[in-house]
Amino acid sequence: MDKPHRVMQDIEVIPAHFPIPGAGFLPINAFVIKAQEPVLVDTGMGIESEGFMKALESIMDPRDLKWVWLTHDDADHTGNLQRVLEAAPNARLAANSLAMLRMSTAWPVPIHRAHWLNSGDSIVAGDRTLTAVRPPLFDNPTTIGIYDSKSEAFFSADCFGAIIQKPAQDADDVPEGDLAQGMISWASVDSPWVHRVEPSTFSQALDRIRQMAPKMILSAHLQPARGKTGQFLEYLARVPASPPFVAPNQPALEQILAQIRGGS
Ligand SMILES: [Fe+2]
Ligand SMILES: [Fe+2]
Repeated sequence: MDKPHRVMQDIEVIPAHFPIPGAGFLPINAFVIKAQEPVLVDTGMGIESEGFMKALESIMDPRDLKWVWLTHDDADHTGNLQRVLEAAPNARLAANSLAMLRMSTAWPVPIHRAHWLNSGDSIVAGDRTLTAVRPPLFDNPTTIGIYDSKSEAFFSADCFGAIIQKPAQDADDVPEGDLAQGMISWASVDSPWVHRVEPSTFSQALDRIRQMAPKMILSAHLQPARGKTGQFLEYLARVPASPPFVAPNQPALEQILAQIRGGS
């Protein structure tokens, strides 16, 4: 886990970096929106459970949380969900209904604490409206990002993520060429379906974000990015025609294992 820090007046990031051997690091972020009704967005990785809970407690008493917003039910977002719900008995779980149904195959999701959202639906967290927005790229059918009416930030779930070369605190700290390459590669890794989509169709999804014009993009997989929406949309527009990602297979694994053995 990295140290939590303030992104803007009332938003904190709980950051982590997951090392990807041979490729770099994937940032894995959760966020706290210090709204009148405080919101935790996603719950980090289970492998760093102690660190995650400590980081959350350093920002606020979890008992004061009123909402836990789950952008989707992938493991890098749900890692500490059960622990958080126990520590935050006053919080409701805002998520897509399918996410809750899918998670129910693994553990008893408390349906009486649920608030089900589809893209376009909103909750009012006291001083702001949080609207569910499906991002242009997603790797899971339950994905709902958030547009925050007060901060005008877009919490984009996996979209606008990037594999980066070294840990950083802000997207401005990542060299521009690395950021472009890292974001285009991640998009291909995480949303391989995009290569089957007509660029003109995909550009309509990008236009919806352009019209929304968020001041900040808070991706689960990139450092907080202020004033970069136009630039990021240009990167994503290149993805459908970019070379598709091919995952390493057995010969690559054997090479990695040989390196590990050689190093030990
Ligand atoms: Fe995901
Ligand atoms: Fe993710």
